[in-house]
Formats: sequence, structure tokens, C-alpha cells
Amino acid sequence: MSLTKHAKLNAWIEEIQAMVKPENVVLCDGSQAQYDKLIKEMVESGLATKLNQEKLPGCYLFRSDASDVARVEDRTYISSKTKEAAGPTNNWKAPAELKAEMKALYDGCMKGRTMYVIPFSMGPVGSDIAKIGVEITDSAYVVVNMMIMTRVGSKVLDVLGTDGEFIPCLHSVGKPLQAGESDNGKWPCAPIEKKYISHFPEERTIWSYGSGYGGNALLGKKCLALRIASAVAHEEGWLAEHMLILKITSPEGVVKYVCGAFPSACGKTNLAMLIPTIPGWKVETIGDDIAWMKPGKDGRLYAINPEAGFFGVAPGTNFHSNKNAMISAQKDTIYTNVALEADGTVWWEDMDAPPQSELIDWKGNKWNLPASGKSEKGKEAAHPNARFTAPARNCPAIASEWEDPKGVPVDAFLFGGRRPSTIPLVHQAMSWEHGVFMGSIVGSEVTAAVISDQVGQVRRDPFAMLPFCGYHMGDYFAHWIKMGKANPDKMPKIFFVNWFRKTKEGKWLWPGYGENSRVLKWVCERCDGKGDAVETPIGFMPTATAIDRPEGVTVEDMNELLSVDKAGWLAELADVEKNHYPKFGDKLPQELRDQIKIITERLSK
Ligand code: GTP
Ligand code: SPV
Ligand code: MN
Repeated sequence: MSLTKHAKLNAWIEEIQAMVKPENVVLCDGSQAQYDKLIKEMVESGLATKLNQEKLPGCYLFRSDASDVARVEDRTYISSKTKEAAGPTNNWKAPAELKAEMKALYDGCMKGRTMYVIPFSMGPVGSDIAKIGVEITDSAYVVVNMMIMTRVGSKVLDVLGTDGEFIPCLHSVGKPLQAGESDNGKWPCAPIEKKYISHFPEERTIWSYGSGYGGNALLGKKCLALRIASAVAHEEGWLAEHMLILKITSPEGVVKYVCGAFPSACGKTNLAMLIPTIPGWKVETIGDDIAWMKPGKDGRLYAINPEAGFFGVAPGTNFHSNKNAMISAQKDTIYTNVALEADGTVWWEDMDAPPQSELIDWKGNKWNLPASGKSEKGKEAAHPNARFTAPARNCPAIASEWEDPKGVPVDAFLFGGRRPSTIPLVHQAMSWEHGVFMGSIVGSEVTAAVISDQVGQVRRDPFAMLPFCGYHMGDYFAHWIKMGKANPDKMPKIFFVNWFRKTKEGKWLWPGYGENSRVLKWVCERCDGKGDAVETPIGFMPTATAIDRPEGVTVEDMNELLSVDKAGWLAELADVEKNHYPKFGDKLPQELRDQIKIITERLSK
């Protein structure tokens, strides 16, 4: 019997079923009953741990395989028809070759498992800006996470009707079961060399194999909403970006919408949920990871958050740094790779208080805090990329318009990354082209969000999209330049921020978190043509008194945060010119090359 009313969808489901040979097939209807049943089965199998239901109602803990804890960029492919279309920053294989390789793995890969069919909507169901995907997976963990992160179920099939458009997303953990075999509560996945996260942009199709981790397996998120959507947006004249969206209201009631692109684990969730330390200001959350933006009839850019939940970094999150995230994750939340307290609550590094008991760490072993009071690097109780999956509706600061299908008009873009030196606390672009230049040179210390031997080293991550752009990054830069040319005075103002400056001793120069509101205030003022600023060779910067100094920050610190490090910038520009831009060949827009010249000249004066 057919699973849905949609002939093409049924045909795809049947085709996949014949290839992967599951034990049975289940259509996900999005109901609480189905969610509860899957969770119950995973608790019974030992894969999930039921947490203290008085303190953390509806919360569960999962421990992944120790090898399956983050995105795998080396195994991620943009398989466009030509290598040129994927560009120099993406792994590429010819579609036919990649598909043949993957089909050999998919053949019978769901033996002994249930094949789940998840119809989901990125964006409010039925809205013009939303895109529908259907994920086939053999992971119940993926199903329950997708139910939090996206809008899932029958209502999506209703919108799809008999012939609506959908993006097929195929996922398998890559561990078929022999007759009578079970996972025994172990997290199933394939070894690294058999993992594939593949995108076929022309076909608008995603094939993922061998990993159960968020960004590799929840295919609506980075795979669809960024890699596929960015390629579609390039074709259709809009933007799909790795950006948070926040609403900020001044004491006078003036509202601004700010989007920010920071690389993975560089502070998007925190900024999106920030509680201002400056009196009278209010920040509300619209999205914490992804923004889709389209020009409105008035020429402004309107942004929506295509997601329905937060897949947030747990370590470092506490009631002081991000109260709203903590509250969001107190109920109906899935925790992955955090540590377990004896009372069935959770713990991770830099939580508000030390552990209350001997813990079970993310690997399932007994764990005690060292006498130093600090976890040893590599021996943390929670994995540094441990995550919480929490419904956006749980967030006390969620903005009333967060599901508005029209989106919100964007006033400012922020770019930033983890840069211990050179990049000041904040500076503003002098033109759209200058702003695109800023986005194009974003660099950051690589974080635990990706499995890499470069963790801690600075790498360029243009627009925080290096791992997420579904086409040639040179064409992407040109697309950004073009988007601004169409409506230069309607475009958001662009700012470069850096919360991660360090002293020579390796201490943070800037307290960050809620104190970042001081910078947001200046950004808002600048959007209204106010805010005291000086013109410097690298752009507009706040005057010495334009940003109030937070407690604990000395005048000297402030000067260092807001000065132009001439030698540092000249070295930065030389590095961009010599090592970064040449990668893009003649696809690099002339406007960006010009910016290097202009800024170098100004600095050399
Ligand atoms: P992804 O979900 O991977 O895209 O990450 P993200 O950009 O949303 O990063 P998130 O807000 O989760 O922050 C990641 C880490 O950076 C956490 O450990 C935070 O505690 C830390 N962090 C966030 N904001 C600041 C800040 O202003 N200053 C400092 N020093 N650390 C910060
Ligand atoms: C990131 O790595 O940027 C994340 C987590 O937001 S993941 O969903 O794994 O991409
Ligand atoms: Mn992210």
C-alpha cells in the first residue's frame, strides 16, 4: 500500500526501500505519541538514558560513539556536475562516481532496522519561503531530533499534496544488523572512511551515510538549509546564511533586527539569546544558526529562521553566560554527550557549579573533577562539542515574530570569529563592498564542532560558510556583491566584531556574553546615523567614549580593544592577498581585490 498521496514521493520511498532493505517502514506523523514511543524504545534498548523527570521533564541523554561527535568536513562532498561548480573550498567527486560508491554501501544497509520516513518543513509550514524535505533514516535518534529542530509530520504532507516539490534526503547510520543481532544500546555508525555527507545541488538531493551526529545526520540543518539552499539562493537571487537573527529594542522602543555570522562554536546561540547588561535594552531571539533572506517589495532584506529548535553547544553554557539557553534546555530536551549526575541531572564543563556527585562522563565511565577544580584537556566530562536539542518555543526570549512567514527586515550584519589578536572589538564597513570584504576574510580558531587536527589554529572561514557553501565560493562572493548593488541604500549596515581578543597571558580582554550588548547598542546607533565614530584606515570605529566600559575592563584594555593594529592588519591583508584570495582564481570579484588595495594604502599613509 502507498505510504502517501504523492506519487513521486511514494516512488522514491519504494526505490530506497528496495536498495536499503529495511525490516519495516514507518511514516513519521509528527505526533507526540510517536515521539514518546521512539524515546521509550531507545530507553529500553539502552541507547537513551531517562533523566530526572522532576528536574528535567521530558529530557533524555544520549552518548554517541566516541568517533562520531562532530561534523566530518573531510568526508563532506558537493557533488555538482563539474568540479568547477563546487569550487576550491569543497570536496568534490563526480555524481556518478560518488553515487556508485555510496550505492554499494547503501545496498542492504538498513537490514534488521526500521526505515523512518520524515516529511519536514524548513520554515513555517505552508509559508512561501519554506522548503519541504523528506528524510529517510534508520536512526530513531535522528527522528526525535528532527521533530525538535524542524516541523515534522502529516501537516507537511498536506501541504505537499499530490505533486508538491520536496528535497529527498537519504540517511543511514551505516551499520546493518545480522539476523537476531541488536545494537545492545551502542550508538551505531560506520568508520570514518566509510562516512559520506554528500550533496547533489543540481538535483537538490542529499545522501548521508555512516554518521548519526547532528550536522551529518539531521539533514534539514546544514545539508538542506545551507548547502542545498545556498545553491538555490544563488540561482534565485536570495541568501541562505549561517547566521543568528536577533531583535533588539532600545529604551525608547526603537526596534532593530541584527543578523550575525560567526563560525561554528563562536557565539551565535549566545548572542541570539543575550541578556543585555545595559539598562533598558532588550534582546529577543529569532534564530540562532541559520537565516534565509529574501528582498522584499520595499527593497529591504527580510530574514526567517528556517529551524524550529536549537542544537546548541553545551560546554560553556550556564546561567551566567546564557540563562535563556539554560531555561530552554530544562524540558523536552535531548542531550548528547554531556555528563550524567547521580541524581539524573546533567553536567558539563563551565556549568554554574562543580559536579554534585561522581559523574558518568560522555564515554560512559566514572568521572571525578580533578583536585585543580578544572577538567584536563582531552579528558573532559562532557565532550567539548556536546549539544542540547531544545524546542525554540522553550526560549523565554523568543520574539513574538519568530514564525512570521514574512520574515523580519534586517538592519545590520555582524561578522566575527575567534581571533586572539589584530581584529578589534568592533569596526564598521564604509561601503557594501567593504562589508563583503569583511565577510570574505573572516578567520577563526577551529573549534570542536568539526573533527579536525586543526582545532585551535586560525583558518579563514569566509562568512562562516566555508563548510556550508554549496557552490563555488568565488561565485558566492560575487552573489553578495550583486545583492547589494541592486539596492545599495536599503542594504543592512555591516560590522566586524571580535569577542575573543586575548591578553599576552592568554586571558580574555573582553568579558563577552551579556556585555556584548554594549557593542550592539553602538551598532543600533550607527544604523540610525548616530553613534560617535572615527574614520580609521580599516573602517569606522567607536570613539573612546562611544562604548561604555564594562566592569573589570581597564581603560588600557579598552584602548587595546579599539585600536588599529597597523602591523597586524598589514600582515592580515598580505595573507589574504597571498594565501586566501588566490584560491578563488578569476572568480574573485574585482571589488574585493580593490578593497585590499584601498585599505593597504590607507594603512600605509
Ligand atoms: P554552532 O552551534 O556550532 O554554530 O555554535 P554557535 O556559533 O552558536 O556558538 P555558541 O553560542 O554555542 O558558543 C560556543 C562557545 O563559545 C560556548 O562555549 C560559549 O560559552 C562561547 N562564547 C559564546 N559567546 C562568547 C563571548 O562573547 N565570549 C567568550 N569568551 N566566549 C563566548
Ligand atoms: C555547527 O557546527 O555550525 C553547528 C552544529 O551548528 S551542526 O548542526 O553539527 O552543524
Ligand atoms: Mn552552526
